[in-house]
Amino acid sequence: GDLDYYFINGPEPKKVVERYTSLTGRMPLPPLWSLGYHQCRYSYYPESRVRLLADTFRSKRVPADVIWLDIHYQDGFKPFTWNRQRFPDPAKMIADLGREGFRIVCIVDPHPKKEKGYYPYDSGIAGNHFVKWPNGAIYEAPVWPSQAEHNPGPSVFPDFSRPATREWWGSLHADFVKLGVAGIWNDMDEPAVFDTPTGTMPLDIVFDNDGQPTDQREIHNVYGQLMSRSTFEGLSRLRPNERPFVLTRATFAGGQRYAAVWPGDNTSDWASLRQSIPMLLNLGLSGFSFVGCDIGGFAGTPTGELYARWLQLGVFYPFMRAHTTWGTPDQEPWSYGVRYEAINKRTIELRYELLPYIYTVMHEAAETGVPAMRPLFLEFPEDGYTAGINDEFLFGADLLVAPVLWERATERDVYLPRGAWYDYWTGQRFDGGRSIRVPVTPEVLPLFVREGAFVFRQPVVQNTGEMGGQPLRVLVAAAQRSEASLYEDDGESLDYRAGKYAKRRLRQEQDDRGRSIEVSAPEGSFRPRRREWTFEVLGSGEPKSVSVQQGAGAAAGEPLPRARAGRLVSIPGGWAYENGIVTIKTEDRNEALHIRIED
Ligand code: GLC
Repeated sequence: GDLDYYFINGPEPKKVVERYTSLTGRMPLPPLWSLGYHQCRYSYYPESRVRLLADTFRSKRVPADVIWLDIHYQDGFKPFTWNRQRFPDPAKMIADLGREGFRIVCIVDPHPKKEKGYYPYDSGIAGNHFVKWPNGAIYEAPVWPSQAEHNPGPSVFPDFSRPATREWWGSLHADFVKLGVAGIWNDMDEPAVFDTPTGTMPLDIVFDNDGQPTDQREIHNVYGQLMSRSTFEGLSRLRPNERPFVLTRATFAGGQRYAAVWPGDNTSDWASLRQSIPMLLNLGLSGFSFVGCDIGGFAGTPTGELYARWLQLGVFYPFMRAHTTWGTPDQEPWSYGVRYEAINKRTIELRYELLPYIYTVMHEAAETGVPAMRPLFLEFPEDGYTAGINDEFLFGADLLVAPVLWERATERDVYLPRGAWYDYWTGQRFDGGRSIRVPVTPEVLPLFVREGAFVFRQPVVQNTGEMGGQPLRVLVAAAQRSEASLYEDDGESLDYRAGKYAKRRLRQEQDDRGRSIEVSAPEGSFRPRRREWTFEVLGSGEPKSVSVQQGAGAAAGEPLPRARAGRLVSIPGGWAYENGIVTIKTEDRNEALHIRIED
């Protein structure tokens, strides 16, 4: 048929992405829990194994939010069923794990088994929901149910291009919702079949196509997107005020409206680790902000070193999930001996420390389409050198991530675009516009903070349910003048769309007598619990004094007491100076806040 071309004259690359996503749609704001750490494998079962996994996270104090159930939780690999020997009481298991701060995501593939007496098949036949050959016979093909231990058999395939079928499929999730399943994983939705040379359906399979019948030639590329749309819309109907979480393997332009994406089965090797960066950056430029690759690699077994490096990179995959295939040895953060366990725990802790920043960046992506994971040229288009870089990237505008991507590396080169940069770990300042070489040990993830940045952090929590009321730690990288905002809401509902969120605008400005940091009163009607705020200012000299003024009509700033750096934890407010970093602690009352640092 005809092709329609759209030309988008940015003019800058960021504007191109913004305008492209105004055409194809944007990722809805994800639930906060889905930005935590996810643990998956093919497959965790039975229930006792799942419970042991959850308990191990908590007893080792490795933070995590989500455990995934792959195809073995099902009865004979049949979508929407449970194997009751392996999982006798899913509702109780899910409720118990929920009390420990875990959520469960279940896989659902698009291939119900052809089997009388199985509700998705019977109701699908009754509703005329399965795709057919041109002669009208229902198309059958082997997928996972054909490999079931007992009574294997072929599958049939929903016609997701038909509105009534999408609605029917969505409603099949009602039982999952009742059981408390938090999210749905759509896989094999190319759709995959096992008996054709192409690995997908024959080209002449017929589809409804919203009442304008066509065949697989036209539908193949959108089948996965339409499946994830059915899931997303079904969950939205079943839990009207909750943000759905759906992951899909196949999709199409615009699919970011329905599901997060992982690019399928990768391999436990260093090349796949490196490839994941350009792959996810390109997905981001194509409108998909909520993406991540299987951490540790799917096929094969990573060494402890590869797993640890992958997890370090995974902190900055918007979707952070470890996964591995059937039959491989355990691939949990503690599976590689005590040294790597400590490193991996620290790595996941970093993810949780950065969640206030990550959530704000994901909110920006939802609003503008500009992805969380950004190639350098998106922020520095005038620097021609950045266009060829795909072994480092920015997370949001302000964190430059230069993961270690080579086995037994003892150093790596990092290109810093123009401006000043600060080592995230030490606060050391570097001039940009050049490459630097940094030494690395297995513990080190090279990370740099852009001049003018505000990076929002919190103390380590074990899951996102523990975030309310945590102190906020704002890393401020000194600049002449800069601005940012912090976004917060309840993390779960759609109330933010009716204004129930809190947005604080932050500003810093340097003058000849010192520096002012201003935080606006919250915009929106959500109010986070009262909490301490700590500002850590990098690249500033030793102050003479620091004062704080809170509330619109408040009198002139109150001087804060100076403390020794280690003492700040035990006093309600004060400031300290050590190693070139000014730390200022105060209580936030959800009012305008003005901090003045006198040099
Ligand atoms: C596919 C998926 C993989 C999953 C497996 C079993 O290979 O890509 O992630 O574990 O099927 O469901």
